[in-house]
Amino acid sequence: SYTYQATNEPILSYEKGTKERDSLIEKLKNYNSGIHEVPIVVGDKEYTTDIVKYQVKPHDHKSRLAKFYYADKALLNKAIDVSQCALRGWDLTPFEEKANIFAKAVDLIRGKYRFDLVASTMLGQGKTIVQAEIDAACELADFFSFNVKWANEARQWQPISAGKAVNRLEWRAMEGFWASISPFNFTAIGGHLAGAPAFMGNVVLWKPSDTAILSNYIVFKLLREAGLPPGVINFVPSDGPVFGDVITRSPFLAGVNFTGSSRTFEAIWRNVGDNISTYKSFPRLIGECGGKNYHLIHRSAVQSQECLEHIVNSTIRSAFEYSGQKCSACSRCYVPKSLWPRFRDGLVDVVSGLRLGSPLDVGNFLSAVIDGNSYKKIRNYIDQAKKDGNLKIVCGGGYDESIGYYIQPTIIETTDPKNLLMYEEIFGPVLTVYAYEDDEYDDILKLIDSTSQYALTGAVFIADQEILLKSQRALRYSAGNFYINDKSTGSIVAQQPFGGSRKSGTNDKAGSPQYIMRFVNPQSIKSQS
Ligand code: ALA
Repeated sequence: SYTYQATNEPILSYEKGTKERDSLIEKLKNYNSGIHEVPIVVGDKEYTTDIVKYQVKPHDHKSRLAKFYYADKALLNKAIDVSQCALRGWDLTPFEEKANIFAKAVDLIRGKYRFDLVASTMLGQGKTIVQAEIDAACELADFFSFNVKWANEARQWQPISAGKAVNRLEWRAMEGFWASISPFNFTAIGGHLAGAPAFMGNVVLWKPSDTAILSNYIVFKLLREAGLPPGVINFVPSDGPVFGDVITRSPFLAGVNFTGSSRTFEAIWRNVGDNISTYKSFPRLIGECGGKNYHLIHRSAVQSQECLEHIVNSTIRSAFEYSGQKCSACSRCYVPKSLWPRFRDGLVDVVSGLRLGSPLDVGNFLSAVIDGNSYKKIRNYIDQAKKDGNLKIVCGGGYDESIGYYIQPTIIETTDPKNLLMYEEIFGPVLTVYAYEDDEYDDILKLIDSTSQYALTGAVFIADQEILLKSQRALRYSAGNFYINDKSTGSIVAQQPFGGSRKSGTNDKAGSPQYIMRFVNPQSIKSQS
């Protein structure tokens, strides 16, 4: 049986001539041809409705990847009933059995379904091979395997028994159901938002993102194949407001596990508040929301050409990998004026060599953004920069949606550090830079903090230790994930627990032991002899 060990899954290289590359190419061919049917699954039954939807390929939006259906109100309510029938049996299932199921799921992710997950993430969510691999294979496997290890460790703690009393803490699921609402940008987040509460004994209604349907359905299916009983997770793609309405009106809502925009999270919170007297228990709300992540460069960080290149490359990777659609992506940068000309030239030099195109071409660094809405929103910000006298396009600025939702990696310089582009989340390949006077560093620290309505990630590049300490203190609440001399993206499960506060969410730190405890409803038992 399972040994409760966990290690981070190594990233496969997919180099030419490797078996894994051949296997992935095979899967890409398969998923790239035909339209793949994705049903709604409630309990052990598959459903279709007359609300038909399609997932298209962002790099080639006339081409459909998957056909799926929205669950309507009646079906969502049925899913709640079915989940409640499954709850008790699953909650009472021994921990070892649950651990074995999730360990089996980890094996399936690392092995049998790895290339399905990577291929469907590439085609459906517009990720390059390496971005899909670190997400849909490595991070997803890591979430599940570390959760099993941490839960096993945490359950070893028991209260002190004294005198004639034997004390014990029993883990229970939360009564009711969890609603897991997941985003398009990480397949792993979808699996984790539904998988973590389920692993801890809860039952779930999973509303995946329309633009990540196929990869998320593969995750759902492999969990069932690993032995997850029917009804524990119900796969219910649906219209956001309809889903929100049904779950927040149900007296059985136990919690919402959400990743997406701050606005949507606020709306959910508001609806929960409006219905608070109708719930059997107070629902727990977990949110990972927006970000306006920064890179701050202090002049002490650049002592050689190599240092400069490190900062340039880190900034470009953070801002433009996956077209800036990681919640952690850098989208505002503060650089001392004395350094700006060299830094700018470095950025422009690297960006002009980045290739934008189909994720199927391994030479491409970034691909299309996720959908038409996203494309329009990002395009509007770029157009604004073309008109605003405080803004200047340093490089990029082009876009074209005739085939795919393509937006060039774009760098904008601003003379106004409070410009909206330094404040609002764009969620695309747009980086805005403000060059500050070298002797105004302290003001810049204050400014960054005061313009951080979000507090997800931030990175500082500083060599001087005193300046670093001062900066860390000034920026203490401006980021849940703070990086020193490294880019603001790329957190790894169990290495950099992930999450932010302020408008970025409830900072429950996915990829850490504290996260899974949010899904436990402990009972303290004193037994007197
Ligand atoms: N965990 C992802 C990152 O840090 C969002 O880039």
